[in-house]
Amino acid sequence: MIARGLIPVVALGALTIMSCSSSKGPAAAHKMDHRSFGQTADGQNVDLYTLTNSNGMEADISTYGAIVVSLKTPDRNGKFADVVLGFDDLKGYLGASTYFGAVVGRYGNRIAKGKFSLDGKEYTLARNNGENSLHGGLKGFDKQVWKAREVGPESLELSYLSKDGEEGYPGNLSVTVTYTLTADNALKIDYDATTDQDTVLNLTNHSYFNLAGEGSGDILGQTMMINADRYTPVDKGLIPTGELRSVEGTPFDFRKPQLIGARINADDEQIRIAGGYDQNFVLNRTGDSLELAARAADPKSGRVMEVLTTQPGVQFYTSNFLDGSVHGKGGHAYARNAAFCLETQHFPDSPNQPGFPTSELKPGEKYHQETVFRFLTAAQ
Ligand code: GLA
Repeated sequence: MIARGLIPVVALGALTIMSCSSSKGPAAAHKMDHRSFGQTADGQNVDLYTLTNSNGMEADISTYGAIVVSLKTPDRNGKFADVVLGFDDLKGYLGASTYFGAVVGRYGNRIAKGKFSLDGKEYTLARNNGENSLHGGLKGFDKQVWKAREVGPESLELSYLSKDGEEGYPGNLSVTVTYTLTADNALKIDYDATTDQDTVLNLTNHSYFNLAGEGSGDILGQTMMINADRYTPVDKGLIPTGELRSVEGTPFDFRKPQLIGARINADDEQIRIAGGYDQNFVLNRTGDSLELAARAADPKSGRVMEVLTTQPGVQFYTSNFLDGSVHGKGGHAYARNAAFCLETQHFPDSPNQPGFPTSELKPGEKYHQETVFRFLTAAQ
């Protein structure tokens, strides 16, 4: 069955994907508004930008942490829901350690023992995850206030200067993250950076998605496809062992869509270590441009999300650390498996793993990565 007002664009086996079209009558124009979102503890003003496209899809972005605060997308009947976990106010984000919706950096994911060597010099980072450094350290990019510039009605540019030595990283790193809400219901993120000294970096967005809507329960009945033949198994501290292991015959084989919950309690060492999924997948790539990394779907609402990226990897995380103690939007208690993350990235601990693609950036080079979260709907 094809829902009214929706046009099938591609058929994938049983799943008919439809492009979005407005259920709100004649197309409205793209627009961007902003308002104050409050102040940080040290008195910095924070703004909240709302990007709206011609279909009525909405993205709220905070200058604190470059956070995607809310993302409202339509279901197969044109009913909108906010598909990302988060908080109603800035205070929630200031107190949280969950990275909801944030841009993480300078190095997203883990660096073993908070140490790495570059050009023969050893650097020591803040350890904030047992003996390891996670998501940029104690005050990563998710906890900084970014400078906003409206590039047009569709694009918001956020910039941040990470100073030489910040959290232990070398070099002044000038970072720009541009969020664009497109007419075809995609949130596109462009990451750009330059440095004045050799450094390492790994930028990603840490949105927690629930395609049925945040606060509506767990994501175990949603499906996931990840375009990866291999993944990077981890040790007990979630640091990659260096092996690129085949997903064949394991709970990590998502090459065909699988229910997220189908194998999440499997008798598998890697599932046990992570308490679910919290591993990096090695994306099957043919070149350097945007390629499909993952496709998630909620059979009930019909919402489908495609993730395209220029990055070599994606961390699939099933919010194993949420335990109901964090109360988010509308007071919703976010329990274990309340969402999934698809953090497009360079592989964790790359600075210490000579076999992984390099995450180094040198003066004169331009870092550029793109990730697109595209929303569609599927018929029943
Ligand atoms: C990433 C990590 C997880 C966890 C979350 C934040 O996904 O891989 O282990 O730290 O961020 O809680």
